[in-house]
Amino acid sequence: MNVNNFRLKLGGKEFVPIVIGGMGVNISTSELALSAERLGGIGHISDAEVMFVCDQMFGTSYVSEKRQRYASFVNNRDKSALQFDLEQLAEAQKRYVSHTMSQKTGNGAIFMNCMEKLTMNNSAATLKVRMEAAMDAGIDGITLAAGLNLRSLDLICEHERFRDVKLGIIISSVRALSIFLKRAVRLQRLPDYIVVEGPLAGGHLGFSPDDWQSYTLQAIVTETLAFLKKENLDIPVIPAGGIFTGTDAVEFLQMGASAVQVATRFTIARESGLPDEVKQHYLNARQEDVEVNLSSPTGYPMRMLKQSPTLQYGMKPNCEGLGYLLDNSGKCSYIEDYYQSLESRNPAESRFVVKGHTCLCTGMARYDCWTCGHTVSRLKETASRLPDGSWQLPSAEDIFMDYLLSENHSIRKPEAGKQR
Ligand SMILES: Cc1cc2nc3c(=O)[nH]c(=O)nc-3n(C[C@H](O)[C@H](O)[C@H](O)COP(=O)(O)O)c2cc1C
Repeated sequence: MNVNNFRLKLGGKEFVPIVIGGMGVNISTSELALSAERLGGIGHISDAEVMFVCDQMFGTSYVSEKRQRYASFVNNRDKSALQFDLEQLAEAQKRYVSHTMSQKTGNGAIFMNCMEKLTMNNSAATLKVRMEAAMDAGIDGITLAAGLNLRSLDLICEHERFRDVKLGIIISSVRALSIFLKRAVRLQRLPDYIVVEGPLAGGHLGFSPDDWQSYTLQAIVTETLAFLKKENLDIPVIPAGGIFTGTDAVEFLQMGASAVQVATRFTIARESGLPDEVKQHYLNARQEDVEVNLSSPTGYPMRMLKQSPTLQYGMKPNCEGLGYLLDNSGKCSYIEDYYQSLESRNPAESRFVVKGHTCLCTGMARYDCWTCGHTVSRLKETASRLPDGSWQLPSAEDIFMDYLLSENHSIRKPEAGKQR
């Protein structure tokens, strides 16, 4: 029995039941998502820092223009005036999504991961623009993540694609699901799929650094399936977090899950947006290098490698050009921590490290925040070592096909020197 014995049914279509999760900022690149789509599965792109991503990909200058517009605020703690230009935001989102969608060649789908915690100093308006522009540009589906704003559906309910685009949510407890569903029922627009993300996932977590070990993905999936059955709701459930082999995936599919969402194994794919040297850090990671900490200004715990350069940041907040985590009153806990650390700085110390939170906008944009799933230390089982001691990077197709066809927890890694 392998994953290929199963199919995900979504809106009258069948997919290979493998979903590559969204990984911002541009770790789950268009190329990575398109590999899954070409093989009949589902790939996510992410709209985290989309204007910055467009500048990198298309040579636009959204970030430098914004930075120039707000240059006089660089030494000002009050960032409340720093607004995103909504037209430019829509333009960037459409450009990025159209670019990706125009390259579809397979029978799979491309979804977009929209994190609601990217509050962008105007949470409702910016989220609405991001979701509507993605739909205008033809995205197949939107996965609402990190924040799960109960108003999200209301924001887009007037859009002509509201009922045809696939809409999914990420939850880590049945409680969060039942609250969201109450609102969705009122709009007569239930989610088309539910990603159940357990405590072993990468990125932001729905569990605290102290208690994540008391939960298991299996238990939350079982509870979610039972809840949906009780409520007579037939919505595909997609577990995520720690699913490392095809056999792990089959175990969930046999329990009644409709697909699995995976990410950590794809961080080291050649198509992943992480720089090659960072992929080598992921491959060399040991279990003791991984921690769940509270350095993210979002307030959500995050799993990352302890060696992440972002944990040593002492830089001035970079909100003039970026500012994706400013809340609706222009605040971000990194700004507070930066000025507090600056004021209590010991002048004798040559290095200045901000205590508390980190500048995640800059950290993610520079690939300095090495977020990863709990299984990151197992990545070395999936790649071959080259004579110079570095790791050979598998292609997304290698990893996808291994998930699809693997049995008995076997992992088929590409032979050293041979690249697909
Ligand atoms: C490097 C990395 C970045 C991630 N970034 C995001 C993100 O931007 N938004 C999100 O909803 N989930 C994010 N995640 C979570 C994944 O989409 C996925 O649900 C989860 O990591 C799956 O578990 P696995 O990594 O153990 O396979 C990220 C995961 C990783 C490894």
